[in-house]
Amino acid sequence: MSKEILVTGGAGFIGSHTCVALCEFGYTPVIIDNLSNSRESMIAGIEKIIGREVKFYPIDCCHLDPLDLIFQKHRFDGIIHFAAFKSVAESVANPEKYIDNNMGSLQNILTLMEKYRVPNLVFSSSCTVYGEPEVNPVSENTPWKSAASPYGYTKQLGEKYIGERHIQDPLGHVILRYFNPIGAHHSGLIGELPLGMPNNLVPVMIKKISQQQPLQVFGNDYPTPDGSCIRDYIHVMDLAEAHVKALQWLEKNPNQSEIFNLGQGKGNSVLEVIQQFESINGIRVAFEISPRREGDITQIFADPTKAKELLGWQTTRTTAEALKDAWHFNLQQS
Ligand code: WQD
Repeated sequence: MSKEILVTGGAGFIGSHTCVALCEFGYTPVIIDNLSNSRESMIAGIEKIIGREVKFYPIDCCHLDPLDLIFQKHRFDGIIHFAAFKSVAESVANPEKYIDNNMGSLQNILTLMEKYRVPNLVFSSSCTVYGEPEVNPVSENTPWKSAASPYGYTKQLGEKYIGERHIQDPLGHVILRYFNPIGAHHSGLIGELPLGMPNNLVPVMIKKISQQQPLQVFGNDYPTPDGSCIRDYIHVMDLAEAHVKALQWLEKNPNQSEIFNLGQGKGNSVLEVIQQFESINGIRVAFEISPRREGDITQIFADPTKAKELLGWQTTRTTAEALKDAWHFNLQQS
């Protein structure tokens, strides 16, 4: 019998791709998602790729009783907890919503994990916990700065809270700090489909192309080679596969805990991403330079050595491939 893994937020961007990777490695994902920032059509996309049905419950992780019923129905070998709000801008406008949702859902997951003795947890965190690093690349020991947004604060608080509960009840957990996830499964059947206006560079760029409007580049006066911000863009399927590796590590290291940065280990500027998108897709991207966006940091990219050494994981796909796959997915939507 294949091991059942609860994937909260499994209809979302990273969650859906992780469900595909779990199936490829012989696990059975069980999806919980309240569809607040995802579409049920993503479940159908996952099922088309893996060739079988996936159990899906339209439940909000902040509601303990319905969530408890799911834990009574299944015996989970692990949990991958994605379910959280993730818009930096929205979190600034509505911090309470972010604290309530992101911490409330985590608290319920940890409570039920302890109640039903689920042995392994993989927690979705973010490079945003570092703030503006003094030095790049960033390792897991790079000291945190104060969070640049309530979204980032909920990731810092989430990591600390998991650590505290681990001291009381040492079930295994791995914290994964994502850098900038982009791209889509090469089939074009699943990808990034934010509800409403996206915030992140690649979905905004794609939306602007379809609207025949120029992309706003938020500042070209940063202290970087071309003046635009630098980030570590990681293909979402590389990120998905890292979650499977984290589960495998937990299975081999029961009741242990670790933290990993997940990135390519190199940075690309906004203008470089635009240039790569144009050349890999044969499309011109109209853009104009706008004022800096509040809260943006100049540059951050990962030192992924620890994940390579302990998880046996490293990225295998390039930024250009991710931009090609993102555009291919978009073309399947129209
Ligand atoms: C990247 C660069 C913008 C839009 C955040 C979170 C991180 C993760 C990803 C969830 C920046 C520039 C963007 C646009 C632009 N969150 N940009 N024009 O802010 O690095 O990271 O999202 O998984 O935790 O912190 O990502 O894609 O918003 O911005 O010029 O229309 O693109 O200024 O330099 P960010 P982003």
